[in-house]
Amino acid sequence: MIIIITGTPGTGKTTTANFLSSKINCRCIRISEFADEACTGVEGNSKIIDVKKLSKKIKKIIQGDAIIEGHLSHLLGIGDIVIVLRTNPKILKQRLLKQGFKGEKLRENLEAEALDVCLIESLERHSHVYEIDTSEKTPETIVKDVLRILKGETDEYKPGKIDWSEEYFSAGADRSR
Ligand SMILES: Nc1ncnc2c1ncn2[C@@H]1O[C@H](COP(=O)(O)OP(=O)(O)OP(=O)(O)O)[C@@H](O)[C@H]1O
Ligand SMILES: [Mg+2]
Repeated sequence: MIIIITGTPGTGKTTTANFLSSKINCRCIRISEFADEACTGVEGNSKIIDVKKLSKKIKKIIQGDAIIEGHLSHLLGIGDIVIVLRTNPKILKQRLLKQGFKGEKLRENLEAEALDVCLIESLERHSHVYEIDTSEKTPETIVKDVLRILKGETDEYKPGKIDWSEEYFSAGADRSR
């Protein structure tokens, strides 16, 4: 089985995938390790990634079961199950600030989380998509949630239950400061 772990930057994909990988003894492929090979240019501080090229590279190295993590992992045209990690934009903002995000880049990412961008993109491309609200959870608890999903206990994680848009967009014009 190929498990895709996706989500807005800072939602805990790498942390969760590392825990999950050791828990179920499954290889973890980190998209960020292939970003340079699939990079076609730079815009500001961000790499422009050729998703087709990235997909080709990843497909080449996949053998058997794998966890694929990264915020582009749901766009590669592979995967049996997609787990979208979600984080309340208020909490996400603190994490991203710590990682040096600011200005437009910070705002774009918070908005993407408030607007369910990764979830919607996943639903457009995959049939088995679930979301986990990680806001108040430790990585250990999140991995327990993932294991429940893998066992078929999916009710709690069906898409559409998480909505921060009202809270986020009613909180004021510029949340990036
Ligand atoms: N469940 C959690 N609770 C609190 N903090 C967390 C949790 N998961 C991750 N973090 C922290 O949030 C930050 C971002 O985590 P991580 O790097 O795993 O996110 P990511 O989704 O892989 O981000 P990116 O897309 O930038 O690679 C790290 O500082 C990490 O320690
Ligand atoms: Mg990461």
